[in-house]
Amino acid sequence: MSFSLPELPYSHDALAPYMSRETLEYHHDKHHLAYVNNGNNLLKGSGLEGKSLEEIVKGSFGKNAGLFNNAGQHYNHLHFWSWMKPNGGGTKLPGRLEKKINEDLGGFEKFKTDFIAAGVGQFGSGWCWLSVKGGKLEISKTPNGESPLVHGGATPILGCDVWEHSYYIDYRNRRPDYLKAFVENLVNWDYVDQLFSKA
Ligand code: FE2
Repeated sequence: MSFSLPELPYSHDALAPYMSRETLEYHHDKHHLAYVNNGNNLLKGSGLEGKSLEEIVKGSFGKNAGLFNNAGQHYNHLHFWSWMKPNGGGTKLPGRLEKKINEDLGGFEKFKTDFIAAGVGQFGSGWCWLSVKGGKLEISKTPNGESPLVHGGATPILGCDVWEHSYYIDYRNRRPDYLKAFVENLVNWDYVDQLFSKA
């Protein structure tokens, strides 16, 4: 396969004021595009051509850092655009997912606190995650382009990008405010539930 930049599933203005047009123009149109272009160049001759994106991410981790960084970020960002929607967030979750968050993570409010803390606590660039591992939900954080996919075979169902390119235009250094806005106003819980159902 080769990588290609997906269209945003909404207009560049649609997530304002929580994420601005300018942020999406840089983040999607320039940063994600660079991962796609660099990933395609590094895929050539890697021995992983013809594999799925998930296989390329797993197959390059720890072996081909250049390809992993770009393919990993392509995977993360593909989902990231769909993990948000206009008028997202809120506290009304699909029933089965809400029940699982109550069982495994101590309820929605505790999930929210712990997910934000994971993002705030990631030193430098990276991501915070909600994933399914061994049939249980867990919250984690990873550096750079890593994800739960390369940590013990977990399946990410929600992730928030905490690279500065994701929030600096709108929030400057206030990463906690960005994470709070992401959870309260942007998360597309229907997409999270779709991934949860398949995990
Ligand atoms: Fe990003």
